[in-house]
Amino acid sequence: MQVIRFGIIGCGLMGREFASAAARWCHLTDIAARPEIVAVCNRTAAKMDWFTAHFPTIRQATTDYRELLANDEVDAVYCAVPHNLHEETYCAVIESGKHLFGEKPFGIDRAAYDAIAACLRHHPRVFTRCCSQFPFFPGVQRIGSMIEQGAFGRIIEVEAGFLHSSDLNPAKPINWKRQIKTNGEYGVMGDLGMHICHVPLRAGWRPRNVRAILSNIVTVRPDGKGGMAPCETWDNATLLCEAEDAAGERFPLTLKTQRIAPGETNTWYLRILGTQAAAEFTTRRPTLLRLLEYQNGRQDWRELDLGYETAFPTITGGIFEFGFGDAILQMWASYVDELHRGAPRGRFSGTATVEEVGLSHQLFTAALRSQREQATVPVV
Ligand SMILES: NC(=O)c1ccc[n+]([C@@H]2O[C@H](COP(=O)([O-])OP(=O)(O)OC[C@H]3O[C@@H](n4cnc5c(N)ncnc54)[C@H](O)[C@@H]3O)[C@@H](O)[C@H]2O)c1
Repeated sequence: MQVIRFGIIGCGLMGREFASAAARWCHLTDIAARPEIVAVCNRTAAKMDWFTAHFPTIRQATTDYRELLANDEVDAVYCAVPHNLHEETYCAVIESGKHLFGEKPFGIDRAAYDAIAACLRHHPRVFTRCCSQFPFFPGVQRIGSMIEQGAFGRIIEVEAGFLHSSDLNPAKPINWKRQIKTNGEYGVMGDLGMHICHVPLRAGWRPRNVRAILSNIVTVRPDGKGGMAPCETWDNATLLCEAEDAAGERFPLTLKTQRIAPGETNTWYLRILGTQAAAEFTTRRPTLLRLLEYQNGRQDWRELDLGYETAFPTITGGIFEFGFGDAILQMWASYVDELHRGAPRGRFSGTATVEEVGLSHQLFTAALRSQREQATVPVV
């Protein structure tokens, strides 16, 4: 088994998710490489205590990412830092020659993304991907196979969304994700947008134009020091796009990202209507895939109760349920496996490519312009 020695920059919510996935690597039954976390970096030292307490393989804990990048024992880096630091840290990782698994939106804005992509062109041997775990839910894997087989026929309409309500409470104090200087002008699109763009982009569906309606619903929040602070980022975004498939056929693609969606905890969904079949999946009912295949002139929706059908085989019994932590493990298996083998196992079992992230930046930049001009604008 090849060991890939990882450093983590950013030991917050997502840094811990990766470490936990690495700790249960034995769950995977058919993989020839494994990650070993040997170094961690976080701006505030205390956040690294959980890592050093649970991972005896960690030999370096530092508050300066440059020290981690100078460490010859580190082969690859997972970077999970606030968006304003993506350009600086991702470019530094790439220039150090270490492989990079970066978090979305992969640059606070399009200029930052362009700088990272330019840096990569000078270091083509660095393997770089962007996190995207939702395609690994079994229901989405099935939809991916259907897309590959052309089972939908001509696409009539696609809807994708990611809705949560973590910002419904106006008394929730402000944090970096609610401020333009750290989260970016994209607001909720930067946080949730790549998650819903990934499958449509992997399918080869390209948004050609967009009319965006963006809302800032809670405009001030407690600053945590007794006062109030402006909460400037877009809470909710609805993008109505005209998309084009590989054959040049156009169809409506509606993309919704919302931080204030009453009743939703963390719902990712995808609905595809085609001339030969239709499919619906939502993480609200993670074992259920709804399918409609037009046969014999009938239009019957079928409900498939999916078990643990994963891109990367595991020890879990086939009838058991799949969840968020499983999707994270599958995503990490995909990154490590592709780094080891040099190619993804399947079209829909790969993490987001830098080119796909670039297309998402084109879309979100056009969406901001659409909102400003109150008009439909081209995605270029
Ligand atoms: N894939 C997903 O489902 C998912 C979910 C949430 C967040 N994210 C993404 O992950 C990234 C991080 O988000 P998070 O929720 O983990 O944030 P977080 O605030 O929980 O963690 C970020 C960490 O970075 C540290 N940090 C800040 N500046 C630093 C620096 N200069 N050097 C080293 N460490 C520094 C902070 O101290 C903090 O511990 C973002 O890009 C976000 O969009 C992805």
